[in-house]
Amino acid sequence: MQRVDAVIRERLSSRVALIDQISHYIVGAGGKRIRPRLVLLFSQALGFEGPERHELAAIVEFIHTATLLHDDVVDESSLRRGRATANAVFGNAASVLVGDFLYSRAFQMMVSVGSMRVLQVLADATNVIAEGEVLQLMNMNDPDLTVEDYLRVIRFKTAKLFEASARLGAVLAGSPPDIEERCADYGRSLGTAFQLVDDLLDYEGDAKELGKNIGDDLREGKPTLPLLIAMERGSESERQLIRGAIEHGEVQRLPDIVDIVRRTGALDATREAALREAELARRCVEPMQPSQARSALLELCVRAVHRSS
Ligand code: IPE
Ligand code: IPE
Ligand code: MG
Ligand code: MG
Repeated sequence: MQRVDAVIRERLSSRVALIDQISHYIVGAGGKRIRPRLVLLFSQALGFEGPERHELAAIVEFIHTATLLHDDVVDESSLRRGRATANAVFGNAASVLVGDFLYSRAFQMMVSVGSMRVLQVLADATNVIAEGEVLQLMNMNDPDLTVEDYLRVIRFKTAKLFEASARLGAVLAGSPPDIEERCADYGRSLGTAFQLVDDLLDYEGDAKELGKNIGDDLREGKPTLPLLIAMERGSESERQLIRGAIEHGEVQRLPDIVDIVRRTGALDATREAALREAELARRCVEPMQPSQARSALLELCVRAVHRSS
């Protein structure tokens, strides 16, 4: 990961001062670096140790960072990684444009790796993430969203990049198709568990630990699983309160809604859904040869669910 950090710092540079400033601002705030870790762990578990792995790990982190810059504009968020968001400090226009810079820098780096397969995996992933964010935009303020449609959004906007990161480890190692698919399955399930927990933490997390404001999803009228389950289980008046909050994004009702979400067991049910996904991920790596990398991949299945940041 130190090597990956060095690649990230090297490739972040631009002759345009504002790009340097904003990209260092968000990257300098850290982040958990889960996606690059997946690239390294899968390539290591499958026996590949060439320098391309650092490049690909940095690429997926760049793509992730670009999505965050854009996402915070779309979500009008003000806190990310414990700091004011780039859009809050530098404005929406600058955030969107620097996000574009990071996306296109990631593609320059992919070309330098020289593998058509790598380009294909990452071009597809980037495209699906954009679809996911737009799908979610279309679902905004819709209290009749189905769980299936909700899951589709999180598979697209979040799980797809986890999937691509895991798959790239196998692609680098030249693994046979069945192994590559198993790695991809792991990434997809882990990413789904991760976003389910993210949606849970938006109701019961701690902003200080999380480095993001809680209640953002409700403020935006975003129908996530905790709300969908609470509507299914609540009384008629509770259901109406939540419907109204989704339709109008009423954050002033957050305490009441958190209370309903808790009392109906919707938070626990969301955590259980995440645990089931994490278990699917665990089964994908269980058959692998014992190694440090495999142990770390198993541990990630636990940490994706039991986390507070
Ligand atoms: C945030 O991802 C966006 C989601 C998919 C929930 P992370 O939680 O991995 O963000 P950082 O990189 O650690 O800040
Ligand atoms: C994550 O979506 C952003 C992407 C995966 C593109 P969210 O909007 O749910 O995540 P946070 O809470 O802002 O990190
Ligand atoms: Mg967001
Ligand atoms: Mg969002």
